[in-house]
Amino acid sequence: MPKNPAARSAWNFLGTMDNKVCVTYWLNVLQNLGKTGLPYLVTLNPSHTPEHKLLKWSTGHPFPSVVVSKASFELDHIQGKRGIWFCGAYQGYSFHEDGLKRNAVESAKSLMNAAIVDNLDLNQLNRVSASSNSFKIVGLGCSVGPNTFIAVQNIIESVKLVCQCQGLDSEALEFQVLFNDQASNDFNMLFKCLSKGRQYFAAGVPGSFHGRLFPKSSFHLMHSSYSLQWLSKVPPELVDKQSPAWNKGRIYYGGAPKEVFEAYEAQFAKDMESFLNARALELVPGGLMALAVPCHPSDTPPSPFFLMVLIQLLEAILNDMANMVKTL
Ligand SMILES: C[S@@+](CC[C@H](N)C(=O)[O-])C[C@H]1O[C@@H](n2cnc3c(N)ncnc32)[C@H](O)[C@@H]1O
Repeated sequence: MPKNPAARSAWNFLGTMDNKVCVTYWLNVLQNLGKTGLPYLVTLNPSHTPEHKLLKWSTGHPFPSVVVSKASFELDHIQGKRGIWFCGAYQGYSFHEDGLKRNAVESAKSLMNAAIVDNLDLNQLNRVSASSNSFKIVGLGCSVGPNTFIAVQNIIESVKLVCQCQGLDSEALEFQVLFNDQASNDFNMLFKCLSKGRQYFAAGVPGSFHGRLFPKSSFHLMHSSYSLQWLSKVPPELVDKQSPAWNKGRIYYGGAPKEVFEAYEAQFAKDMESFLNARALELVPGGLMALAVPCHPSDTPPSPFFLMVLIQLLEAILNDMANMVKTL
């Protein structure tokens, strides 16, 4: 732990010029054990065994691979059987937020299914769409899966259900799914991970969802999960030294003055407006949009956000890297 008690935090890291990193978790803070009692610490990759150790073990971090991604997609086949749902970091890239994200996707599932069944009028869509037997879905900010694949599968099942309820032939319906993300996204990985038994035609669409991506009135259902919180750019006030929102050396609004929070909020409002204007043109009349966005209730302060510790650590790492470049 840092010698200066004021510098101690839940996650403490020591970096060396030869790229070795040692992290110490202060369990008293993370597990709410009280800061004043005996400190309980977990250290990864220490240069030497710390004094007063209680336990020492060797472990490894799983490597992301196509096989692992496919296996995590297969998990879907056992989900919900006999009332058992699996939720863990192994459903993503082994970070705890992967488990959380997947859990959120699962909980959004029933909400989305109900919304599709209640609001989708296929007879109306058929009247306005020239290609009446094709149903077009877009996944915005899809990353490399697998959450988007699961969402798409849910959507297809719900649309087929609507078909049956509205007296239409669900077998005659053909689905096309366009997966969108920034051009730098790993679309190769995305396509490799697509399930062979999928019931839809797939294609990728690179580009920012803050602008137009598709022709007018071309899609029936647009879906996006955990992507809209990404801003199109850093709000200009944050890097303006004359502005009260100048966020010197920071990449986040946690613990910053209210002007910083307001600058992020204003940028989000502008981005949402561009997003909605573009989608309004691209969606067929009567089409639907399902958006899952992480939020906090408007009557709570924005700072005590559970990922703040992680973001602060990232901020410290990025600042150190930037300072190292400056001194080279
Ligand atoms: C946290 S991931 C979510 C991925 C997936 N939807 C899920 O639920 O797991 C956010 C994704 O949004 C993408 N993204 C962020 N801004 C974007 C933009 N302006 N246009 C398209 N994709 C964007 C990122 O590249 C990233 O792949």
